[in-house]
Amino acid sequence: MNNRAIWRIFWLFYAMGGPRHIRNLALIGFMGTGKSSTGQILAHQLGFQFLDTDALIEERAGVSIARIFEQQGEAVFRELEAKVVAELATRSDTIISTGGGLGANEAHLASLKHHALIACLWAGPEAIWQRVRHQSHRPLLNGPDAQDKIRNLLKQRESAYRQADILINTELRSVKDVAQQLLYHFKEARNAA
Ligand code: S3P
Repeated sequence: MNNRAIWRIFWLFYAMGGPRHIRNLALIGFMGTGKSSTGQILAHQLGFQFLDTDALIEERAGVSIARIFEQQGEAVFRELEAKVVAELATRSDTIISTGGGLGANEAHLASLKHHALIACLWAGPEAIWQRVRHQSHRPLLNGPDAQDKIRNLLKQRESAYRQADILINTELRSVKDVAQQLLYHFKEARNAA
């Protein structure tokens, strides 16, 4: 994938054996691509609720994501994520910002597609590294080989991320600009439905 803005929109209203009911907008993508900050702007502009899957998991568990990974392991965290995904099906008028691994799971994507337009925020491994290198709250990037980890995980996840309705390169855009573009496409998708 090159650095140019890449747009891919397709309306799969009859995919998955039935029409899609676009009531929400879900943001997927790798760590450090700006899902939470973009989502908050969008929620404000649309008058929607903002839901961050990681924040919800932390609230329920009463501990941080890092602590869940450390004490219970990644598998338990992924189970908590799966529960949240199932519950999201009842939501309306919500901007859903997802953890980086959630949108790389094809079953979760299929579930989200029933009720949400899915936008993937993209950035290449170097840009991601520059954004996350001074942060410490992401357990998957806390080892000494974080740059390799980013490259490898991104490679593994790219094909799933590409199944989003919209793929937007965030490298050369401000968060505000990304939000504006997504706002336009979300409104188009709703009008077309
Ligand atoms: C993860 C990304 C994190 C968080 C967890 C695992 C991942 O969310 O869900 O640390 O697997 O990429 P952000 O993408 O919001 O950092």
